[in-house]
Amino acid sequence: MKKLVLYVLALTVLSLGSAEAAVYKGQKVYIKKCRKCHGGGLEVAASKKKKSWKKLMKNKGEGLAKLHIDNPKAEKSKKYFQSKKYRKRAKHLRDFLVEYAKDSGNVPACN
Ligand code: HEC
Repeated sequence: MKKLVLYVLALTVLSLGSAEAAVYKGQKVYIKKCRKCHGGGLEVAASKKKKSWKKLMKNKGEGLAKLHIDNPKAEKSKKYFQSKKYRKRAKHLRDFLVEYAKDSGNVPACN
């Protein structure tokens, strides 16, 4: 019985750990790929609610990619949004954006 409890505990810790890792990976993608045009990161994440991010990032970030590809002002990001690399990391990016969404309660207070 004790063993089972420990096992469940270990699993919980492991899965929490990997969720955090995904958020961190997403943040890294953001800093590398999005910051040059959008600045910040947390501010951008906090500009939408969880639900909007989930919608925009479903199907490997299809919505976000389309929005940029169709916008002449975002011409410079076109290549990235059409790449395999983007689709591969879209999930991490989504985790980051959802984690810090407007209604996540995770946005650090600004002072
Ligand atoms: C080459 C510059 C560039 C890069 C790189 C870029 N964007 Fe954008 N993004 C834009 C432009 C331009 C728009 C359209 C904004 C406008 O028309 O005012 C936009 C729009 C958006 C919007 C929509 C904002 C809204 O109000 O609905 C989101 C969200 C967004 N970008 C997130 C990202 C993320 C996340 C990344 C990184 C994966 C990224 N962008 C990379 C230039 C860029």
